[in-house]
Amino acid sequence: MALATRTDRRPSMTRTLWDSSVGKKTIMAVSGLIMLGYLAVHMLGNLKIFFGSGEFNHYAHWLRTLGEPFLHYEWALWIIRVVLVVAVVLHAVSAYQLSRRDLRARPTAYVHKKARSSYATRTMRYGGVILALFIVWHILDLTTGTVHSGFQPGHPYQNVLDTFSTWYGNVIYIVAVLALGLHVQHGFWSAAQTLGVGSATRDRVLKTLANVFAVVLTAGFVSVPVAVMTGVVS
Ligand code: HEM
Repeated sequence: MALATRTDRRPSMTRTLWDSSVGKKTIMAVSGLIMLGYLAVHMLGNLKIFFGSGEFNHYAHWLRTLGEPFLHYEWALWIIRVVLVVAVVLHAVSAYQLSRRDLRARPTAYVHKKARSSYATRTMRYGGVILALFIVWHILDLTTGTVHSGFQPGHPYQNVLDTFSTWYGNVIYIVAVLALGLHVQHGFWSAAQTLGVGSATRDRVLKTLANVFAVVLTAGFVSVPVAVMTGVVS
């Protein structure tokens, strides 16, 4: 019986998935949906700000004790963080590699590149970069407090109020949330197509669903800075 040689080895399923465009799109769709799930919960959690500091701070504390006593303090939060970091990295790397592949596949010269990338592609590309920068800023602002003077650990209500008491705080968050809305609107639709849920009859429903998700998410997030600016939350 002949022994298997190096050339007989087949690439693993993971390798094949990662190397193919369809595989990368699937990874983008699944990681995008994971992040979307997180954002829906995050947005709903943020709305607790309308019920006062007690409820909001209690909710933030609950996030840290989630799963106790089975899990240790903050373990559930750390599991969520690790899943999110993996999702963000896979999403960004796949997007980058797909766009490089797309550019290489174009027969025309560089000059035509701009004219040929669609409005949706550009929105997704720049929107993705804005969101990545925002996430870094947001964590330094409201989780670690590194860029937030007067940050009080364990007092997220007061910290959120502080953030939205400056004009630049409002601008950064509102611009990011609008970018998020556009990203989710197109991304959800693309994910549905990649995962093969789309069909001629279902397309309209999926497009409407993508719009509804995007609008609800944007309105929910934007309501917090607007409420602080207008004094509804103080
Ligand atoms: C007006 C909009 C938003 C407000 C008021 C807000 C508020 C907060 C607060 C208070 C925290 C800290 C929670 C804690 O430590 O207990 C936080 C964490 C976080 N937010 Fe937001 N957020 C907003 C929008 C967003 C958006 C648009 C994204 C993503 C695109 C996002 C992603 C995150 C992430 C990844 C964390 C870190 C969670 C952790 O590891 O502790 N947030 N947010």
